[in-house]
Amino acid sequence: MSTVIAIANQKGGVAKTTTAVGLSGALVQEGYDVLAIDLDAQANLTIALGINPSQVRRSVADIFVNAEKLASLIQNTNLPGLDLVPANKEMELSERFVPLRQNHEVLLRQQLSVSEISSVYDFIILDCPPYLGAITTNALVAAHLLIIPTQAEYFSLNALKNMIAQVKTIRQSFNPALTYRILITLRDLRNRVHRTMSEQLLSTFANGLLSTSIDLDTKLRESSIAGMPVTYCYPKSRGALQYRSLAMEILEYVRQKNLIPA
Ligand SMILES: Nc1ncnc2c1ncn2[C@@H]1O[C@H](COP(=O)(O)OP(=O)(O)OP(=O)(O)O)[C@@H](O)[C@H]1O
Ligand SMILES: [Mg+2]
Repeated sequence: MSTVIAIANQKGGVAKTTTAVGLSGALVQEGYDVLAIDLDAQANLTIALGINPSQVRRSVADIFVNAEKLASLIQNTNLPGLDLVPANKEMELSERFVPLRQNHEVLLRQQLSVSEISSVYDFIILDCPPYLGAITTNALVAAHLLIIPTQAEYFSLNALKNMIAQVKTIRQSFNPALTYRILITLRDLRNRVHRTMSEQLLSTFANGLLSTSIDLDTKLRESSIAGMPVTYCYPKSRGALQYRSLAMEILEYVRQKNLIPA
């Protein structure tokens, strides 16, 4: 079985996609086979892995609107060990049409459980859109672990509380075993608000907060433009070090919780 990790927050621009790419790259570097799935119509994960979404004919939207098999939509990336199911603009349609389908909440989970996927990949990383709609629900129903990237800023707190409430709803319905971890991103330690809010998050969400945080690093932006994870483009950068440290912490967590593939 693969370990499925969803990366979601209803708040936009909090480094969900950057975390999906950074974590995927670091897990590949540790020798794991990783499938990254872009669930966002903006297709930023697709772009960051070197594929132009306007040239994507068959995207992840096909599993939601055309009932196609996810396994048939997998593409290689420039990085051996990392595969991608790309997104394109059609994901906007999915968000509207998925709720019309029966048992729509489990569409993605069913697709990930087939042996062409679960016997091939150690980790499946789901990059979610910035809202709590039918697609994010599909991701949370399919996931073993949710990572919630957040900035250490006052306006991020509400979104964080909503995300945790959503986890509770999903646990009560489709996915009782769903666990979550909060990741502080875009941190600027020279910024007093970030320092105080980081401390406040630690005291409020102590158990749920990852000890790794991700600081500002322009190399993370530049690696998206280069179409490769930062751990490969700029392996010595702070961003690469911190995403490697995140991968180690996540590996330890999934081992402890027994979420790791045998
Ligand atoms: N640690 C960082 N240092 C500097 N820039 C970063 C960092 N993390 C992310 N960024 C940049 O911040 C912007 C937003 O990041 P990203 O696209 O990963 O967020 P997102 O949560 O996926 O956004 P959306 O909600 O639109 O999907 C991007 O331009 C990205 O390159
Ligand atoms: Mg994104």
